[in-house]
Amino acid sequence: MKLENMMMMGGWFVNNVDKSTNIHLSKSCMPHLRANSTLTFINQWQSVKKLGATVVLVGDAYDKAQAYAKKRAIEEGRTFIPPFDHLDVIMGQGTVGMEVMRQMKGPLKAIFVPVGCGGLIAGIAAYVKRVAPEVKIIVVEPSDANAMALSLHHGQRVILDKVGSFADGVAVKEVGEETFRLCKELVDGVVLVKP
Ligand SMILES: Cc1ncc(COP(=O)(O)O)c(C=O)c1O
Repeated sequence: MKLENMMMMGGWFVNNVDKSTNIHLSKSCMPHLRANSTLTFINQWQSVKKLGATVVLVGDAYDKAQAYAKKRAIEEGRTFIPPFDHLDVIMGQGTVGMEVMRQMKGPLKAIFVPVGCGGLIAGIAAYVKRVAPEVKIIVVEPSDANAMALSLHHGQRVILDKVGSFADGVAVKEVGEETFRLCKELVDGVVLVKP
C-alpha cells in the first residue's frame, strides 16, 4: 500500500506534474497561485503554501476550484496548469505505477487506485499495462462520487449533480477527457466504497 499522507509533500505531489510544478516554481521564485477546494486536507495545502504559493481555498468540490483557477489565469494573464487532464500530468502520475512495480517483492495480481478525475489511475494503468499487462487495474470510488464508474458503464463521460465529501481528493463531478479515454481502454474493474 502506498499511503499518500506518508509522501514527502503529504500527497502525490512529486508524482503529479501539476503538484511538483509548485516545487519548481518556488525554486525559480516564480509567483504562482494554487486553487484548492475547501475540502482539501490542511497538510496538503499548507505544504504547498510553505513553498511560496498563494493558496486559495474555493468551492466545495474540485470542479469549482478549477473554474476559479481558469478564471484568474485569464484575468491576470497567468498560465493555467491542468491538474490531471493532460498527457504530461498523467505521465507524471504513472511514476507511481513504476514505483509499485519496482518495489513489489512478490507477484502482483491487481492494483486498486482511488479515483477522482482519473489522472492517477490513467498514469498507473498506462505504465503497468505496458510492462505487465496481466496485472489488473481497479478503480476505487466512493459510491457518492462515482463519476468514473458511471462513465465507464455508459461508455461516455457522465456529469454528477452533486458529490459527497467523504474523500476530498476524489470529490469530483466529472472525470477528464484524456483520463477517461485511457481508463476506457485500460481499466479492468470498479469497486465502490460506501462512506
Ligand atoms: C486522496 C487522493 N486520492 C486519489 C487521488 C487521485 O485523483 P485523480 O483520479 O484525480 O488523479 C487524489 C488526487 O489528488 C487524492 O488527493
